[in-house]
Amino acid sequence: MDKNESYKLLLAQVKAIVKDETDPIANMANVAALIQEAFHFWWTGFYRVIGEQLVLGPFQGPVACTRIGHGKGVCGTSWKEGKTIVVEDVEQFPGHIACSSESRSEIVVPLMKQGEVVGVLDIDSERLATFDATDQHWLEQVAMVLAGVL
Ligand code: SME
Repeated sequence: MDKNESYKLLLAQVKAIVKDETDPIANMANVAALIQEAFHFWWTGFYRVIGEQLVLGPFQGPVACTRIGHGKGVCGTSWKEGKTIVVEDVEQFPGHIACSSESRSEIVVPLMKQGEVVGVLDIDSERLATFDATDQHWLEQVAMVLAGVL
């Protein structure tokens, strides 16, 4: 399966999973698992906006940083700017927060609800330049479906 086909299937699975469940944590947990099953990235997970910080939510992968400030790192920047950030080489991103020294590239997609960022989907890869416009396109669709049930 090529990347588009894998994402198409993933999106259908995400829609099916969230259709019958209203609990946000349960849905984020299963979406993280679906993404990992499809792509086996280094780390896939969610941070939720709680007060002035992003707080670690459901994830798949190694232990990660639990709290990230507004505008800090890739996640905090995505939150602040309300847009997806694709990082080809984390060492070139000023202020990147290295939860794991294995991480080489990253994509962070904001979860938008009524114009507000309520969380982010963060995916790390142990290879450089893993994520491109195709990943961005499909992961933004996933984020939109998920944000609808948060
Ligand atoms: N690298 C992220 C921190 C989260 S971990 O990658 C799981 C950042 O710079 O915001």
